[in-house]
Amino acid sequence: MTAHARSGIILAGGSGSRLAPATLAVSKQLLPVYDKPMIYHPLTTLMLAGVRRILVIATPRDLPRFQHLLGSGEQWGLDLHYAEQPAPEGLAQALLIARTFLAGQPSILILGDNLFYGPDLGAQLHRAQTQTVGATLFAYRVRDPSRYGVVELDPAGRPVSIEEKPARPRSPLAVTGLYLFDAQAPAWAQTLKPSARGELEITDLNRLYLHAGQLRVQTLGTGNAWLDMGTHDDLLDASLFVRTLEQRQGVKLASPEETAWRAGWITDAHLRDLARAQAGGAYGQYLQTLTEQENP
Ligand code: TTP
Repeated sequence: MTAHARSGIILAGGSGSRLAPATLAVSKQLLPVYDKPMIYHPLTTLMLAGVRRILVIATPRDLPRFQHLLGSGEQWGLDLHYAEQPAPEGLAQALLIARTFLAGQPSILILGDNLFYGPDLGAQLHRAQTQTVGATLFAYRVRDPSRYGVVELDPAGRPVSIEEKPARPRSPLAVTGLYLFDAQAPAWAQTLKPSARGELEITDLNRLYLHAGQLRVQTLGTGNAWLDMGTHDDLLDASLFVRTLEQRQGVKLASPEETAWRAGWITDAHLRDLARAQAGGAYGQYLQTLTEQENP
């Protein structure tokens, strides 16, 4: 674990209404993205950041399923905690739900339906964590920014405005679902009022940091992928993206077992045990080969 790794939060509640009827009986973040449950993506992104203590927030209906899937996290060298969000009252509510868990410490929050992939992601995450005061957002250039929170930067890369789903975006930079907050975030979230759609908006929280001169933005370059998986087309695109890379390179993306093993959080023998438990499928067979390869 890096010296500055902080506690993580995965926000995996919501209603998933755009994915109905696929989400009528099961949470969006448990749906498969090609070969794995969606939540493996945000989970392994946090692991890449060196984060091992993580709170999973989900609806009361689905929380037991997440617990069934992920357990205590010990099998992957993690310390997982769980909390309910009774109603989808906004992303910023995560900071209120996590307040006791965070115990006055800074946090890293990721949305349960976001997929990040890229060569410099780990380095970017570690760099962001060295800042203990303020908030850090990750921006990503998209063709259709009005679907997202949009951040406008000055020529020096400092944020000057941030707007939620603007009809006329001031920049092509979407705010991705990965946020680093300092220790004051829960107290600031407490001051927010619900928006017109009845949610505590993360954009409003970020705007408080912006106005305090404490908001930083790191832009993920074109070699990186950021996909959110909120619609049927997004979900299919993400599945095809994962399948393309996995088939072409003979690797698996977003494997908690592999990520933990590469980080040195679990031993070769433990990885082999985990592989054996899933030996019936290609995923388990892939894990089995990891410790046998001379040049992983
Ligand atoms: P959204 O995609 O904005 O909302 P949703 O998942 O409810 O889907 P839909 O719009 O189709 O009804 O949410 C982004 C992520 O944040 C997703 O992982 C769900 C999560 N979320 C919560 O956990 N709690 C909330 O209150 C909201 C609004 C979202």
